[in-house]
Amino acid sequence: MTFENSAKLFEQATAVIPGGVNTSLRGAQPFLVVKEAHGAVITDADGNDYIDYHAAFGPIVLGHNFESVNRRVREVMEHVDLIGVGATEIEIELARKVCEHVPSAERVLFCNSGSEATYTAIRLARAVTRRHKLIKFQGCYHGWHDAVAMNVISPADKLGKMDPLSEGSLSETLNHTLVCEFNSLGDVERAVKAHPNDIAAIIVEPIAHNIGCLLPEKGFLEGLREITRRQGIVFIFDEVITGFRHDLGGYQKLCAVTPDLTTLGKAMANGYPLAALCGSRELMEHFNTHPNGNVFFAGTFNAHPFSCMAALATIEVMEKDRVHEHTFRLAKKMREGMERIVNALGIPATVVGFGSVFITYFMEGPIRTYRDMLKNDQALFINLRRSLMEQGIFQLPLNLKRNHVSFTHTDVQIEKTLEITEAILKDVSRKPIRKLYREVGFPAAPAVTAHLSTG
Ligand SMILES: Cc1ncc(COP(=O)(O)O)c(C=O)c1O
Repeated sequence: MTFENSAKLFEQATAVIPGGVNTSLRGAQPFLVVKEAHGAVITDADGNDYIDYHAAFGPIVLGHNFESVNRRVREVMEHVDLIGVGATEIEIELARKVCEHVPSAERVLFCNSGSEATYTAIRLARAVTRRHKLIKFQGCYHGWHDAVAMNVISPADKLGKMDPLSEGSLSETLNHTLVCEFNSLGDVERAVKAHPNDIAAIIVEPIAHNIGCLLPEKGFLEGLREITRRQGIVFIFDEVITGFRHDLGGYQKLCAVTPDLTTLGKAMANGYPLAALCGSRELMEHFNTHPNGNVFFAGTFNAHPFSCMAALATIEVMEKDRVHEHTFRLAKKMREGMERIVNALGIPATVVGFGSVFITYFMEGPIRTYRDMLKNDQALFINLRRSLMEQGIFQLPLNLKRNHVSFTHTDVQIEKTLEITEAILKDVSRKPIRKLYREVGFPAAPAVTAHLSTG
């Protein structure tokens, strides 16, 4: 397997695009230029095929270039494009679907990215509570804007401190965000007590997927619901990853905790750019899309008909075919297979997942908080994935990144992935992974990966 064409294109890319990529974590090594993507397989510029578990950080839930979705989008293209006044029937129908499925949704607004959705949710929370502060959790990612772009994959020395993802963030904004430990209600109670009547919102990924798969302990989400209700705080579920992927009604449907506001994106439109913010009528009608509203909401490309049709078609496939049953079964098969392999080889590892998501941390469990994950053997984690690439399996080679199964993955692909993983890990148990890794032709994994983590 060679990467010559990708390498040449990388040089061309870096001549005109800073670093050659258009979002920070796409710069994983080795650099890939993908030319074809169909079903569960992507093909790079050198003609190498990979079974893809990255799924573009999560949106690809049915499979790449899913025919019935693309067909419906092509049909729309024959008739209408972006109009910029009133609404299209497509977005009305999509809004109806979201309100039908998502328990917290009485009203919904569409935008283009998860970051826009969380930005808007926080602005609304501040407007209705007339408070300033926000609570987020270590390990959760909610987008690139200053209020939330902090404390995701933080190094050990930054735990318990402010860890912004970017220079240039406004300290006034950063200082209004309090970072608590996921699964610690005590931490949240302390933060709320320290800032009486000044917490506008608590935002949480109901499963912390930006660090793989950190599951909420029993009572954690329920406890947050109770605290927010008692304190008049707006409770926001960021379901940009979990929405539609885990259930048509999102994780809130499964855990039976209903937040005040919900952000959605990624899997909703199977890879077309679309996100949403939904919630109770009372809250959502504060937006100035409504004649009585005073919270600004706008966007030239909002509710673009192509993306809305992609979402409608994706949701309809989920409604009529057994998408969740299939993806959940295959991911379970993968998790059980991985457990068997690491146990048989005596490699310290913890296999975790939910629904169609799976990840193997190379460390002993249990994993309750992000702090526990600092023990993950990064070099093994990343080098295994680079070795998998060499054999036609794509799992993003960056620390703590999760894998996804789509509707088009097959049992045969899962079995093949397990077989190849087992063969690589068998070698690891005989010799150090760094050595193994150079033998298969990639540069050694960096000792420390960037802690800027999105996706
Ligand atoms: C949970 C969550 N919220 C929000 C975002 C931001 O979404 P976007 O990248 O579409 O702006 C992401 C992106 O990965 C995410 O994982």
